[in-house]
Amino acid sequence: MITELTQNPEESRASYDRDLPVYHPEVLIFDSSEEVDQFAADLIIDQIAKKPNSVFTLPTGSTPKDVYGRLVEAYRAGAASFSDLTIFNLDEYWPLDPSNPASYASYMHANFLDHVNANLENWHIPQSDASDLAQEVEKFSGELAMSQPVNLAVLGIGPATTCHIGFNEKGSADDSRTRYVALDEETFAVNSAQFSSPETAPKGAITQGVADILEARKILLIAKGKSKAWGINRTLKGSVSADAPSSFLRLHPNTTFVLDKEAAQYLS
Ligand code: F6R
Repeated sequence: MITELTQNPEESRASYDRDLPVYHPEVLIFDSSEEVDQFAADLIIDQIAKKPNSVFTLPTGSTPKDVYGRLVEAYRAGAASFSDLTIFNLDEYWPLDPSNPASYASYMHANFLDHVNANLENWHIPQSDASDLAQEVEKFSGELAMSQPVNLAVLGIGPATTCHIGFNEKGSADDSRTRYVALDEETFAVNSAQFSSPETAPKGAITQGVADILEARKILLIAKGKSKAWGINRTLKGSVSADAPSSFLRLHPNTTFVLDKEAAQYLS
C-alpha cells in the first residue's frame, strides 16, 4: 500500500531567507519497510536501465542495507548490471583504517561491491586514512565535480534530531561543499556504537556538501522506523534552514522521500 502525500514539484516561497524557490517534495509512504526497500531498489534499477553509465551518489548505514541486498539479488537474477556505473559515496569517516569493519569502504564491499559487477575504478570514496586531509578533500571534490551531474543521489537521514544528510550536521549551509565535518554529539552517540569502543570511534568524517548533493538530477531520501519520525517531520514541515540540513532538500525540484509508516508517523 502506498500513500502519496504531495505532488512534486509544486513551487512555493516558504520561509527560506535567500529567496530561492522552495518545493514540495514527493512523499511516498509505505506500510512496510520491505516495500520501501523494493521501491528504492526498483528506482535504482530503472535509472540504470535508462542510462547504464549513470553517476550515482550512494549512502551507507542501516537504512540502505536491504536495498543493497535487493540490488545484489537483481544482479544474480540477471535483472541489473552495474558495470558501467560511476559511484560516489556520500561520506567516509576520517581518520580511520579503511579495513576497519565500521569504515564505509568496508560497508560498501560487504553489502554491495563484492557481490556485483561494479567497476571499482569508477568507485569514489574519501580515503579514511589519508595522511593529508586537505588534499584528500580536494581530490574527492575534484572527481565529483568532473563527474557531475550525478543522475541519482540516494540518501538516508540522521537519527533523532540531527537531520543530517551525508555528514552535513546542524549548521551546514546550503552552499557547503565537500569538507571535513566534526560529528555532532547525537550522531557520535549513535555511530560510535559500531566501533569496538567509543574511544576508537572517529570524531569526524569527509562528506559531500549540501550543494554537492543538491546538484544531482534526482534525489531519493529513504527513512524507516520511528527514530526518523521527528527528523522527517522537521525536514518537511519546519523552516528551510541550517539547523536541519535535510530541510535544504526542499530547494531541489526533483526529490522523493520514501518512508515507512513509522518514519512518517508525525506527518498529517
Ligand atoms: C551514511 C550517511 C548518513 C546516514 C544517516 C542514517 O553514508 O550519509 O547520513 O544516511 O546517518 O544512518 P542509518 O541509516 O544508519 O540510520
